[in-house]
Amino acid sequence: LQETALSELREISATRDLAHWRVQYLGKKSELNALSKQMGSLGQEERPLFGERVNEVRKALEEAYAQRQTALAAAEQALRLAQETIDITLPGRAVCKGAIHPISRVIQEIEDIFLGMGFSIVDGPEVETDHYNFELLNLPKDHPARDMQDTFYLSDELLLRTHTSPMQVRTMERMEGHIPIKVIVPGRVYRRDEDDATHSHQFTQIEGLVVGEGIRMSDLKGTLEAFAKALFGPEQRVRLRPSYFPFTEPSAEVDLLCVHCHGEGCRVCKGTGWIEILGAGMVHPRVLDMSGYDSNRYSGFAFGMGPERIAMLRYGISDIRLLYQNDLRFLAQFARA
Ligand code: PHE
Repeated sequence: LQETALSELREISATRDLAHWRVQYLGKKSELNALSKQMGSLGQEERPLFGERVNEVRKALEEAYAQRQTALAAAEQALRLAQETIDITLPGRAVCKGAIHPISRVIQEIEDIFLGMGFSIVDGPEVETDHYNFELLNLPKDHPARDMQDTFYLSDELLLRTHTSPMQVRTMERMEGHIPIKVIVPGRVYRRDEDDATHSHQFTQIEGLVVGEGIRMSDLKGTLEAFAKALFGPEQRVRLRPSYFPFTEPSAEVDLLCVHCHGEGCRVCKGTGWIEILGAGMVHPRVLDMSGYDSNRYSGFAFGMGPERIAMLRYGISDIRLLYQNDLRFLAQFARA
């Protein structure tokens, strides 16, 4: 019995088959158990010998079982570990990294510069009223300058804002006569332009507004000069040319030195050495008054610039439409290493 049992045990190669063997040779209905029960029918002399032998066999089988169990379990674990090994020398799969869109990047940089000068950043609605977009900016219904900005009308009174300037008025109203006001307003604007290399029916502007006591044109120039140097480097300079906007007086167009300039035949500035990047001026007294700021006491300056234009200059982008097509071959060039 012992030999058959042990040889069968050696045949077993998986822990899950061991239970069966245990039931058969050591269980209640095993042959060994039957033999133990027979002991009662034996004579006085045979009984101890027989019992001892049965116990020996039981002990041998139990020990063999325990050993086999340990050995098989160890082997199975070793196999599992080998199979589950991770090859840490395999090269990883490349993660597809996104890039910040060049317009967002320029806006973020400009925001940082103005935050550093103590400005706050505010947001305004893209769906505006005629009242804020024109009327309160000194552009009454019959004003010829309304044609300068071909407008998407949603109804008689509602439109898509053509510039971020309505936020000059909204900000002054919200500040309820308190000074100083120093804000910039980045946001999307809309105009009924045919799209081409330099025009888009939807683009971005950043409006700036400063209102206080004794604010002068020199403050406007100084602020823009500091901004230009922070954005393009210490050699940068600004030039103001007289211009006209109904909501500023005097008004100016502001030029920067052409950073790409290679003289006469420069395609970026057409050889002039200057590039226009924004419109600006002193807030018109009538706009101050309409917004609840007494123009005899307060003054201010405002400016509006186009981040697209700045991005195009900075990165040498020749067609504004590239900024809106979301072609990954274009955008991936702006991924940081
Ligand atoms: N809103 C003007 C435009 O869109 C720019 C501007 C802003 C001019 C503020 C002067 C002051 O052309």
